[in-house]
Amino acid sequence: MKKILVTGGLGFIGSHTVVELQNEGFEVIIIDNLSNSKIEVLDNITEITGIKPKFHQLDLRVKSDVKSFFDTNKVDGIIHFAAFKAIGESVANPLEYYENNIGSLVFLLQEMRDRNIDNFIFSSSCMAYGTPEKLPITESTPSNKAASPYANTKQIGEEIIEESCNSYKMNAITLRYFNPIGAHETAKIGEFPTGTPQNLIPYITQTAAGIREQLSVFGNDYDTPDGTAIRDYIHVVDLAKAHIVSLKRLLNKENKKNFELFNIGTGKGSTVLEVITTFEKVYKKTLNYKIVNRRPGDITAIYADTEFTNKELGWKTEKTLEEALSSAWKWQLKQK
Ligand code: WQD
Repeated sequence: MKKILVTGGLGFIGSHTVVELQNEGFEVIIIDNLSNSKIEVLDNITEITGIKPKFHQLDLRVKSDVKSFFDTNKVDGIIHFAAFKAIGESVANPLEYYENNIGSLVFLLQEMRDRNIDNFIFSSSCMAYGTPEKLPITESTPSNKAASPYANTKQIGEEIIEESCNSYKMNAITLRYFNPIGAHETAKIGEFPTGTPQNLIPYITQTAAGIREQLSVFGNDYDTPDGTAIRDYIHVVDLAKAHIVSLKRLLNKENKKNFELFNIGTGKGSTVLEVITTFEKVYKKTLNYKIVNRRPGDITAIYADTEFTNKELGWKTEKTLEEALSSAWKWQLKQK
């Protein structure tokens, strides 16, 4: 049974990917420092699959700890989620983002090089394209200047990985996610925003649950059909499955280049108001929201052209926006 290290495996996307890895018969080892996740997720994963993943609480910024992990653990591949990912926070604290997101990546790659570990999947983001000139975004869309230090850590991270693949003969795939939303159908795992949610969907579900007074819609003066910004919202389980397909591609040596990049989105853009209207179908009530000014740093629209990924990876999204929002609401209702 192939053994896969999942860093950040107790996080939102990481935990859903661990479930899919176990469903596919992989043995999973999780490293997480619990800075943006909760230890009870380990039991929640176990409840879903019946298999408790091995877990090491470890901070990947501590080089000696990363080394000792690999002294005692042999793995066949690594899926690297562990990173800070709040755009606004990265503007306020750029150096913490570079230290964590870049530092831990370099330490991981050094261990891979020194121990001949191959097969690396990197959690990246559509934010790595910067502000797109043309839509939809394809894998050959040139990247503009990153709009935040967070996005810059993804751009730089991908460059570091590509150069490592070329110099050390490693094989890696970077997945540029669009907007991950929703939760596992069991509602045993989902998105745990710490404090006030920055992202749209948790803010919507917390407003619907009465935890938040009212949703603020950040601007309706964008050049879009209803004036609100457009994003490509992808169900987190579809996103998790894209990691399995990518990992198998590397393990089976089906990758065409030693560094490959894929957009992971639905290929459909939705405005904020369309998301609200779709959620109201699930919620069966009207959501309390108001239009306010734009949020600094937001872009008008970004969504994927999924043709290359669908054809090359043989993967495409199966779940609709409504199914994703329904799963997010079911998860919210289970929160204490
Ligand atoms: C979506 C839309 C907001 C909150 C996120 C992550 C980023 C990256 C991509 C991983 C925007 C609007 C939001 C609210 C609102 N993921 N909005 N009211 O900014 O696209 O980026 O996905 O790499 O890390 O942050 O997602 O959910 O914050 O915003 O009107 O209370 O919803 O203006 O148009 P975003 P988001």
